[in-house]
Amino acid sequence: MKYNNEIHKRRTFAIISHPDAGKTTLTEKFLLFGGAIQTAGAVKSNKIKKHATSDFMEIERQRGISVATSVMSFEYKNILINLLDTPGHKDFAEDTYRTLTAVDSVILVVDSVNGVEDQTRRLMEVCRMRDTPVIVFINKMDRDGKNRFDLLEEIENELKISLHPMTLPINSGKDFKGVYNLYDKNLLLFTANTKAIADDDDTVSISDLSLPVLDEKLGEKDAAILREDAELVDGVYGELNTTDYLNGKVAPVFFGSAINNFGVREMLDTFIRIAPIPRPRATSVREVPPTEDKFSGFIFKIHANLDPKHRDRIAFLRVCSGRFERNKYFHHVRLDKDVRFSNPYTFMARDKDVIEEAFAGDVVGLFDTGNFKIGDTLTEGEDFFYTGIPSFSPEIFKEVINKDPMKTKQLEKGLLQLTDEGVAQLFTQFGGNKKIIGCVGDLQFEVIQYRLLQEYGASCEFRTMPYYKACWITSADPKKLDDFTRFKSNNIATDKDGHLVYLAQSEWFLNTERSNNPDIEFHFTSEIHKETV
Ligand code: G4P
Repeated sequence: MKYNNEIHKRRTFAIISHPDAGKTTLTEKFLLFGGAIQTAGAVKSNKIKKHATSDFMEIERQRGISVATSVMSFEYKNILINLLDTPGHKDFAEDTYRTLTAVDSVILVVDSVNGVEDQTRRLMEVCRMRDTPVIVFINKMDRDGKNRFDLLEEIENELKISLHPMTLPINSGKDFKGVYNLYDKNLLLFTANTKAIADDDDTVSISDLSLPVLDEKLGEKDAAILREDAELVDGVYGELNTTDYLNGKVAPVFFGSAINNFGVREMLDTFIRIAPIPRPRATSVREVPPTEDKFSGFIFKIHANLDPKHRDRIAFLRVCSGRFERNKYFHHVRLDKDVRFSNPYTFMARDKDVIEEAFAGDVVGLFDTGNFKIGDTLTEGEDFFYTGIPSFSPEIFKEVINKDPMKTKQLEKGLLQLTDEGVAQLFTQFGGNKKIIGCVGDLQFEVIQYRLLQEYGASCEFRTMPYYKACWITSADPKKLDDFTRFKSNNIATDKDGHLVYLAQSEWFLNTERSNNPDIEFHFTSEIHKETV
């Protein structure tokens, strides 16, 4: 319990959204509040975006999309906030899923015009799997969006989570007048101002909505609608139950406009009040509370070549308990060896600061020369693995065709290292040598091809394979597993850890095999193999 104060000070979270809903804009506003950046527009402006906080890689600069995941730490009202950025592009969804294993809560941004979109749905599924506490920010209220209650209903139905409105909007689009904060009982009047940092001048405290000041501020018609809305919300939702929020059962909702920095501070204030401190985490042997004195943590992300001139990688370590220290030896459980780090650093993207210590909830960047894989655990000697950092089934499969036999070694090394980073998954055909890459999006194949050439000098092409899903297979009966593997050898491969995988051509094939082979278990994530050391 030595580090209780440090733990209680920390909140580690991610902002997630469908691309274009406003994640980058909201991130920027948070950084402004935290004093981590000084000018509005610094993150967003396209020109500066070239060097924006999450633009690590060459390829990202070329494409202008956020390929990398970075971490931004800032202090707000004495709370240390670690904001883990996630790539918005759907082709990098797996990266985002993994980042979600390293956070304690999320803020989900929904565009009020488009409502729930594809990527929102999938990200929410991952949050639900882990019962991650979620706060929802309904953005772009300055645009003519959907009706507020229709939006709430759509989000509840589509994302399968109960909502709890914390603010109520007064109109939207050009008639947008602001929000009423049901918790603080004040009215926040909207003024379009994309450069604003703080806007508390326009806050009017209204303890009782029946007071005439509401009519003065909003006009009789809108005041009447707000009174009705508030009554309805009060009747349906009552008080926010923070335990339900912390268990991932209820999501508080805020309405606002990120670009106008409107409604953002209200959310941030609530966030630091209710968001979880670093939570206990499951391992292969027991649950480890953040308050344990002994250090432990896991690698959730590996990032290569921040500096293209060097072949170094950065492993992102989430500290789960105790105190991480510079130059101290820690136990690398998978390799069963002790390792120490002379230059661990914290992030403000490119501005890296070497740190002496870190505590539960923090993310530390470790220089890596190839010792780490996603999911690796570091401890002070105990043998356990943090669980819940699975690989999900890829959705696109391609065979790797070597275009330059002179560079076979480089190609193999490149494939191994890139897949260690979690850029993609590598499978080897059962009983053969064919290498199959599995990704969630086509863009990743371009990234792999580009990086293999740039960083390893290896050129390759891809041939599309007719698979739709990879399922890890196990069985209590080794003979049955053996038979299945032999009969279906064309569809069997091994993953990098040598675990058997069934590659299904279609849902129909998968269902048929499942019903024909009741003794074989089909798993949609690799998690099953992590349960024992
Ligand atoms: P993302 O990271 O989720 O992909 O979204 P991002 O913040 O980049 O926002 C997507 C677009 O939505 C941006 O416009 C941004 O300015 C705009 N936006 C964000 N919040 C609001 C809001 O509250 N109201 C309105 N009306 N627009 C908002 P863009 O034209 O794509 O980029 P830019 O030219 O503004 O940089």
